Amino acid sequence: MAVSETMRAVRIAQHGGPEVLEPVEVAVPAPQPGEVLVRVSAVALNNTDLWTREGAYGRPGDPEALSGWRGPIDFPRIQGADVAGRVVGVGTDVDGDLVGRRVVVDPAVYDADGPEANPVGLMGSERDGGYAEYVTAPAQRVHDVTGSALTDDQLATLPTAYGTALGMIERGRLREGETVLVSGASGGVGVALVQIARARGARVLAISSGSKIEAVREAGAHEVVDRARDVVEQVRAAAPEGIDVALDVVAGQLVGDGLPLLREGGRWVIAGALGGYDVAFDVRRLYLHNAQVIGSAMHTPRHFDLLMAMARAAEIQPVVAATFPLDQAARAQEELARRLHVGKIVLRP
Ligand SMILES: NC(=O)c1ccc[n+]([C@@H]2O[C@H](COP(=O)([O-])OP(=O)(O)OC[C@H]3O[C@@H](n4cnc5c(N)ncnc54)[C@H](OP(=O)(O)O)[C@@H]3O)[C@@H](O)[C@H]2O)c1
Repeated sequence: MAVSETMRAVRIAQHGGPEVLEPVEVAVPAPQPGEVLVRVSAVALNNTDLWTREGAYGRPGDPEALSGWRGPIDFPRIQGADVAGRVVGVGTDVDGDLVGRRVVVDPAVYDADGPEANPVGLMGSERDGGYAEYVTAPAQRVHDVTGSALTDDQLATLPTAYGTALGMIERGRLREGETVLVSGASGGVGVALVQIARARGARVLAISSGSKIEAVREAGAHEVVDRARDVVEQVRAAAPEGIDVALDVVAGQLVGDGLPLLREGGRWVIAGALGGYDVAFDVRRLYLHNAQVIGSAMHTPRHFDLLMAMARAAEIQPVVAATFPLDQAARAQEELARRLHVGKIVLRP
């Protein structure tokens, strides 16, 4: 497959607003030993793209410091964690049969080998990502989805949002027949949580707002409560027996208010802090009920394998809210920041 020498990409050379997203023409990266070269057909956006661009993660002891999620970003950096595309080249030590396969890239950089490794880096943050015509990735991290009935746009929505959702659901040990509460349910991770929890046979209560409530119901929520009104009161009415697992990307006041809603042995899984990171709760509501608060960052290799099996079987239908050409990455990120959409925003290089 012919690969040109240069490619269009959008990269950042500093932290800042959407204006630091710079369209550039750069050399096509060469796959190193053990790596493959992927021609990107779709790359989905995530909040982490905005936060990495802004440097909004803070550092331990300095919450206002400009930083990526794992520390300083090595500029210039091509953003974009969520890539679907085709393998067009391989480095030494890699099976040439991979060339031509349609793949999804697991964007995680792990701290160890093995199925339970922790993600400690991310494509688009700790290595160059998919806001480009081509990207390299370790061969071990590309998953063949050639036969999937999902479109490339849909496949690109999976790694971060659905991977994070599946990581939360697995770490929260959600079982069939349990009741879950999903916050931020209209968002990329939220819709994924609703769809996967529903597919697992849970009763899904979701929190959303305004005109997005109906779309969250369509995504599979049994009941949707409005966050503009008293959430705890509405959840108590919808689930008087309490909830087994909270899948929470909002945190803030919701944690302290919501913990008493958990049943005995309930799990409150947190993967985001849209409502505030400085959380206070009455710890008696935790230990007196054998409840657990569980932090969840992305997924493990085992979770990603499960996700790819779902992708091959098209067991879930990811919702694509909008698509943009690559050179409109800044506009696409602004659209994401407005949070008026339901589902995922995708760039097509
Ligand atoms: N831990 C991880 O590995 C990981 C991975 C991916 C994302 N995340 C984090 O998870 C969060 C959600 O990501 P996403 O991509 O799903 O975001 P998103 O697509 O922007 O959606 C978030 C949704 O949350 C709701 N929301 C926004 N601000 C809120 C607030 N202040 N209080 C309550 N609800 C609010 C909105 O829905 P309604 O208006 O319908 O309520 C919004 O649609 C982000 O904080 C992100 O950084 C974490």
